[in-house]
Amino acid sequence: SAEDKLDYVKSKIGEYPNFPKEGILFRDIFGALTDPKACVYLRDLLVDHIRESAPEAEVIVGLDSRGFLFNLLIATELGLGCAPIRKKGKLAGEVVSVEYKLEYGIDTFELQKSAIKPGQKVVVVDDLLATGGSLVAATELIGKVGGVVVESLVVMELVGLEGRKRLDGKVHSLIKY
Ligand code: PRP
Ligand code: ADE
Ligand code: MG
Repeated sequence: SAEDKLDYVKSKIGEYPNFPKEGILFRDIFGALTDPKACVYLRDLLVDHIRESAPEAEVIVGLDSRGFLFNLLIATELGLGCAPIRKKGKLAGEVVSVEYKLEYGIDTFELQKSAIKPGQKVVVVDDLLATGGSLVAATELIGKVGGVVVESLVVMELVGLEGRKRLDGKVHSLIKY
């Protein structure tokens, strides 16, 4: 069942106190991805969720870099294209940019203007929701190029940091801490 798959994935996620900074409990998705069964379960759980909650999706956007583990994987299963939001200076051609804060720092995200067509329905995927800074910035960028975010999806959510509030509750997480 979906619940068994989730429990299995959860059991494989790593936990590292005081990384990358003092006071941060780092939830390590790569601990799960070294396990073949956890990879397949994660793919199924994410794809099933989009099929149910956002069947109108046209593009799957992943956030640099851990989001890239999932956007192409999901897109191929759904028969869709995918696009990256990257940290500054990595994307060619015309881009839009936005600076944002995250749980342990500050950064700039960029999106190619050509990556999304005006009016296209976008699902954004990432490994983890902490303060929500990354997903808020991604939503802003997609809006700047005329796309519409129909769903944001993460594997893990750090509930205590209240990132969900900044996204008006419009986010789905598989695992909550
Ligand atoms: C981490 C994580 C999320 C983001 C969540 O990415 O992968 O993208 O932080 O934090 P927030 O909700 O407070 O914005 P990070 O910027 O560390 O980079 P990485 O994905 O390249 O490892
Ligand atoms: N990104 C932001 N906060 C994080 C955390 N606690 N663990 C893993 N990735 C993160
Ligand atoms: Mg990230």
